[in-house]
Amino acid sequence: MIIHKAKDYEDMSRKAANIISAQIIMKPKAVLGLATGATPTGVYRQLIERYQKGDVDFSQIATVNLDEYKGLSSNNKQSYHYFMNRYLFDHVNINKGNTYMPNGLEEDEAFECNRYNEIIHSIGGIDLQLLGIGENGHIGFNEPGEVFEKGTHCVALAEHTIKVNAKFFSSVKEVPTHAYSMGIKNIMSANKILLIAFGVSKAKALYDSLFGPIVPNAPASILQLHNDVTVVADEEALSLV
Ligand code: F6R
Repeated sequence: MIIHKAKDYEDMSRKAANIISAQIIMKPKAVLGLATGATPTGVYRQLIERYQKGDVDFSQIATVNLDEYKGLSSNNKQSYHYFMNRYLFDHVNINKGNTYMPNGLEEDEAFECNRYNEIIHSIGGIDLQLLGIGENGHIGFNEPGEVFEKGTHCVALAEHTIKVNAKFFSSVKEVPTHAYSMGIKNIMSANKILLIAFGVSKAKALYDSLFGPIVPNAPASILQLHNDVTVVADEEALSLV
């Protein structure tokens, strides 16, 4: 595991964008696993800048996102679908036909989970998976629990996650209670993992994940078993390391 300590949010974003850019340059047909939330928006901004400068070409890239809220349509402003268009896809030369997200409107959970697992498989698996980390140690929406969920699944969001994510909604009541999320096996099958974190609120989760026991109650701790993980985090997030 490689840990890069960044000075601040901008530095974290630039360092992470460097790694993603290198992946795209080395493999123009790469499959990128992408994340949403407050952490990666700076990374996406940096990638857009690199595209505008002519340094990075997304034309042959495929993407699969970690998760999507259940019940939200792709044009709902709070959906992760909308987020990806707004923060990345609308600003680069990616073929949107090659960008994949779980369908939040699909009621048939077994159908949707199989469909998404099949998509990940059919595009050849993930070359580089970008991950944020929840304050409770979740990755994707693999919440702390009794077991590691393997494949894509429909998850009841932890109360803590709903509370934290309420900042993106007009009230906590608006936050969907369920989401579709890639499972731990989907994530662990990626060739490379890039975990990003900033801020002191992530320090405990990051420390437990990188150095604590590997238990489903700290979902990101499973990353200790992956042999190509790069962590880019700021000083505050790494303050317990
Ligand atoms: C988002 C996702 C989540 C977030 C995590 C951190 O697609 O899968 O695991 O990465 O909740 O969120 P932020 O970046 O908002 O702190």
